[in-house]
Amino acid sequence: MKPIVIYGSGGHAREVAEIVMHAHQEQGRPSLLGFLDDRPERKGERVLGYEVLGGFSWLEEHLREFDLIVAIGDNSVRQRIADRALELGATFGSAVSPLAHFSSACQIGPGAMIFPRVTVSTNVVVGAHVILGVHSSISHDCRVGDFSFLCPGARLTGNVTLGPRVMIGTNACVIPGKAVGRGTIVGAGAVVVDDLQGDVVAVGVPARVKAGK
Ligand SMILES: CC(C)(COP(=O)(O)OP(=O)(O)OC[C@H]1O[C@@H](n2cnc3c(N)ncnc32)[C@H](O)[C@@H]1OP(=O)(O)O)[C@@H](O)C(=O)NCCC(=O)NCCS
Repeated sequence: MKPIVIYGSGGHAREVAEIVMHAHQEQGRPSLLGFLDDRPERKGERVLGYEVLGGFSWLEEHLREFDLIVAIGDNSVRQRIADRALELGATFGSAVSPLAHFSSACQIGPGAMIFPRVTVSTNVVVGAHVILGVHSSISHDCRVGDFSFLCPGARLTGNVTLGPRVMIGTNACVIPGKAVGRGTIVGAGAVVVDDLQGDVVAVGVPARVKAGK
């Protein structure tokens, strides 16, 4: 079992680190080795007592010694970094809170970050590098595309499909059977009652597409 290195050293990365530490203590899951950050001035700094080891050059040199979690909130940036790391040959771990609840019949992809009090129900498939924020929930038969992000308290009801890189804002919800296209952002508190195409921003109750993105 290889230790975990977290790419990123900001607020989201610290939250993810705490999940990794908790899962290590409670369930014997992999321990945390440190953080990566491409800003040279951050190298050697300590975050939650763990070292910022370096940036991509460190990653390339030590690839085989750890599993990576890309803890960057922005979906596109997270994908860019994960794709680059994958090209170099990186392998990915995940941060799964012992306080989250999973059906025995769900699948979670590599690189996932699953926060406390998340619920994932039966026959749900969660893609790679997805973030499920604290108190978010996914009901039966949903599909969540790679690099998507359910912000805190967001809710997918049954049979919802999200494309890749979708963001569902804090406390927003999607009613049953609806689909949200790739790269779309659903604003905080919105209620999605119709399918949404890709690459739009939708806000309000019911959610309506805002001009431009
Ligand atoms: C939808 C969102 C992405 C829009 O961001 P933005 O493009 O920067 O929008 P702005 O703040 O410039 O606001 C533009 C307009 O949309 C409205 N608006 C923004 N967010 C809204 C929301 N969630 N619901 C309803 N209206 C919203 C603003 O009031 C403003 O209206 P106006 O043009 O009539 O003045 C953002 O407001 C949002 O809700 N993000 C969710 C963030 C979140 O949950 N983060 C959690 C991270 S853990």
